[in-house]
Amino acid sequence: MADGTDQSTRAATAFGIDIGGSGIKGAVVDTRTGELLTPRVRIATPQPSDPDAVAAVVADLVAKTDWHGLVGATFPAVIQHGVARTAANVDKKWIGTDADAAFSKATGLEVTVLNDADAAGIAEVRFGAAKDVKGMVILLTFGTGIGSALLLDGVLVPNTELGHVELDGHDAETRASAAAKDRHKMTYEKWAKRVQRYMSHIEALFTPDLFVVGGGVSKDSKKWLPLLDLHTPVVPAQLLNNAGIVGAALAAVADTTEQPASRIAG
Ligand code: BGC
Repeated sequence: MADGTDQSTRAATAFGIDIGGSGIKGAVVDTRTGELLTPRVRIATPQPSDPDAVAAVVADLVAKTDWHGLVGATFPAVIQHGVARTAANVDKKWIGTDADAAFSKATGLEVTVLNDADAAGIAEVRFGAAKDVKGMVILLTFGTGIGSALLLDGVLVPNTELGHVELDGHDAETRASAAAKDRHKMTYEKWAKRVQRYMSHIEALFTPDLFVVGGGVSKDSKKWLPLLDLHTPVVPAQLLNNAGIVGAALAAVADTTEQPASRIAG
């Protein structure tokens, strides 16, 4: 960060990185406001996206921004205390990889990694659609897979993986993700029927107070949210493209400050 930045700002800023299937994006975030303090930088996700290749890109992004502070990164898999435990839509070499350690080594900085939907969840709770909502909020992201974040009174219960519940004998995300919509060239009307079936199943299991829906399709929410018939109110995510970056930065700061604002259970 440029010299002249005051100390409290420095303590509240972190570089947030959102690792997705096609792009890896990052920016410096003021975690008190959710504001991006630098332009987003993006590098295409390497193929194959094995741990070494992704770690090299993460280091590159941080170097491009000349950042030397805390770093947070999202990853589209179960991340238990920094270690990737699954790899549904990423290179299988990730399973068992300590992502915190790999990215910290590559960047020479302290890096905190968390599940991508969990990052979006904490960002929406702090600054977006789930701000000040009491009780249980379930955020679902519809993209290549279906990601989930479960928050109780603003505290995240990590790694819920509700995209992988079984629905009509199938892994739910293979039926109702945005990728399934594209793969089968479904209209919003047709896809919404699958989303309805999926979300009413989740509703029956959890009885949440609010659903927040995110992912690329949330920008078209007017086309499909009105088609859903659920007891639970459903609202689109507000941070859209920046939810991962902001949530990753929040996790990085929470990891070191251990304030109640860490909002991550366990
Ligand atoms: C993964 C989750 C991830 C979601 C969205 C799923 O296939 O299992 O960990 O959050 O995709 O990327």
